Amino acid sequence: MKRYTDISLKPYNTFGIDVRAKCMLQYDSVQELQHIISHREEMLAEPILHIGSGSNLLFLDDFPGTILFSNIRHLDIVSEDDESLTVNVGAGMVMDDFIALCVGRGWYGLENLSLIPGQVGASAVQNIGAYGVEAADHIVAVHCVSLHDGSLRVFSNAECNYSYRHSIFKEPGTRGNYAVVSVDYRLDKSFVPRLDYGGIRSALQAETPLTAQNLRDTIIDIRRQKLPDPQVLGNAGSFFMNPIIPKAQFEELRQRYPDIPSYAVDEDRIKVPAGWMIEKCGWKGRSMGNAAVHDRQALVLVNKGGATGADIVNLCEAVREAVRETFGITISPEVNFI
Ligand code: EPU
Repeated sequence: MKRYTDISLKPYNTFGIDVRAKCMLQYDSVQELQHIISHREEMLAEPILHIGSGSNLLFLDDFPGTILFSNIRHLDIVSEDDESLTVNVGAGMVMDDFIALCVGRGWYGLENLSLIPGQVGASAVQNIGAYGVEAADHIVAVHCVSLHDGSLRVFSNAECNYSYRHSIFKEPGTRGNYAVVSVDYRLDKSFVPRLDYGGIRSALQAETPLTAQNLRDTIIDIRRQKLPDPQVLGNAGSFFMNPIIPKAQFEELRQRYPDIPSYAVDEDRIKVPAGWMIEKCGWKGRSMGNAAVHDRQALVLVNKGGATGADIVNLCEAVREAVRETFGITISPEVNFI
């Protein structure tokens, strides 16, 4: 276990916002976390915030309490048959390291999630998704420790209440109450590529055989072309969620904008890309102070250097207002404001 006081959080959030925390505790096992919780009074300054790679956070101010950080990084096979296997993965493992390892061993299904930043624990909280695949499609169970009493609880996939970028861990009543310590992921032993999301088929090199590694490499190339590297330009990936609207409202919009892209969610609802709307409003590439809308993907807000949380929020509000005025749709941040 490592304990730090008055620590800069700049390396712990991909936006690169320079704020400080009163205390940070990094733990290496479930037992260490339970020890911390059972000695809460001595070990933890309130409030408590559990972070992962900090790739979905926007710090607005110094943090007055304790940041918890997991270094649990094991990978164990839980069960296996001819078609699939289930592995238990430590919440602190980097998700893309896990995916690389799966592809290398011939465990398939997560290729489309390649290069999404963040740790395995966060993948289960955010239900990360890309190119037609969501973490929830492969999560069997999520193992948690209660931050109140240190007890263990396992949430089945159904109990996690997954939907687009949503889980029970984001719901009032559960949010902030648990630390995810490990996740059970089910992988397939045969490779069934999912290529239907726009751009993947055409990006795959026609001459190379369609292997999981080639699909992973293609996804990584697509992401690198559009999404800024946080080491170079601070950002938290998609800043906004794509709004889901009633079909009737979508049909009205389509009258006005025949080229509007869309994804059917179910019979009555349609998901519309916020990035497309932001670009249509003329905000792609525009700056406000040290914050900017990324010039290659309008769903991403970036820190051009030295931006504060408030700078990013001001830009966020200006963009939301523009989308509301033009399309009558209120877009919501995906990033958590702290
Ligand atoms: N578009 C534009 N202009 C832009 C951005 C997008 O016109 O500046 C259009 C694209 O041309 C396309 C549509 O909007 O027709 C969708 O764009 P894209 O495929 O890039 O995906 P997205 O909806 O902007 C979502 C996820 C991404 C994920 C991609 C691919 C959310 C909030 N974001 O973005 O996830 O990688 O789909 O599946 O759902 C993340 O969460 O950090 C993230 C990057």
